[in-house]
Amino acid sequence: MSVSYRAKPEDGVAWVTGASSGIGRATAIELARRGYTVAVTARRAPELAALVHQASGRGRIVAVPGDVTDPASPEAAVAEIEKSYGPVALAFLNAGIYLPVSGTTIDVAAFRRTFDVNVLGTAHCLAAVLPRMAQRGRGQIGINASVAGYGGLPRAAAYGAAKAALINMAQALSFDAGPAGVRIQVVNPGFVETPATSVNDFPMPFLIGVDEAARRVADGFEKAGFEITFPRRFAYLLKLLNLLPYDLYLKLVGRSTGGASADSEAGRSR
Ligand SMILES: NC(=O)c1ccc[n+]([C@@H]2O[C@H](COP(=O)([O-])OP(=O)(O)OC[C@H]3O[C@@H](n4cnc5c(N)ncnc54)[C@H](OP(=O)(O)O)[C@@H]3O)[C@@H](O)[C@H]2O)c1
Repeated sequence: MSVSYRAKPEDGVAWVTGASSGIGRATAIELARRGYTVAVTARRAPELAALVHQASGRGRIVAVPGDVTDPASPEAAVAEIEKSYGPVALAFLNAGIYLPVSGTTIDVAAFRRTFDVNVLGTAHCLAAVLPRMAQRGRGQIGINASVAGYGGLPRAAAYGAAKAALINMAQALSFDAGPAGVRIQVVNPGFVETPATSVNDFPMPFLIGVDEAARRVADGFEKAGFEITFPRRFAYLLKLLNLLPYDLYLKLVGRSTGGASADSEAGRSR
């Protein structure tokens, strides 16, 4: 069920997880610029303190360090935010990691870590914030997934699977939380220039800067619509590819990324 509620700074605090760098950091600055008191969470307290310092005079950002993989930590963070700064009206659940996996050796530890942070970490944050919003009868939550969750991509067996889980989770929650007045959105960025993507040794099509990404996220929170995705051309191209029969999808994506599927020329010649 879709909910029309759109959070406003006068409704309460914006909580951003994974705000010590990248998209989360830039979005925290953007939301503070738009008038929110922004509570920022991540493990690296010094980076959060630097962000608070940088924002001073241009908006209010407060640091509430925490680790989303520890179930008690997001609960303690939200309790502290609500006690000290007011109700969380908008939550951007953005904390995440990208661990590329490749080849035929399955690195189970990378899968476990990816799901711990990206999926269970998000669930821990939801457990802390959603019931409080539901009790108040309003709230807005953006879950940061990725266009990598639309369909399988080379080296993304762990990351893409976790992001697909988040997209599905957000869709399911919009049915379940909607009747309580809580609006759920999914954020599906394409490639954004951040520390996470700096490890990529392949060309990243339609790569955008982190400040532009932050503006798109904040704009999306102010608009109607379940999905916030950017750059649109890249997202829609991937959506289109995912409408194709699987064999054609694998062939086209394999060709354009250099990631061979079993049916491709490279696969057949092995
Ligand atoms: N960059 C892209 O192209 C892109 C595209 C699509 C989706 N995304 C998604 O956007 C989100 C942000 O990524 P980014 O590119 O901005 O990467 P980033 O700069 O590496 O930021 C990741 C953030 O997550 C935090 N984090 C990691 N583990 C955590 C934990 N256990 N508890 C709390 N916070 C944790 C990190 O802070 P600490 O290390 O201080 O804890 C950091 O602030 C991720 O969910 C990512 O999957 C990124």
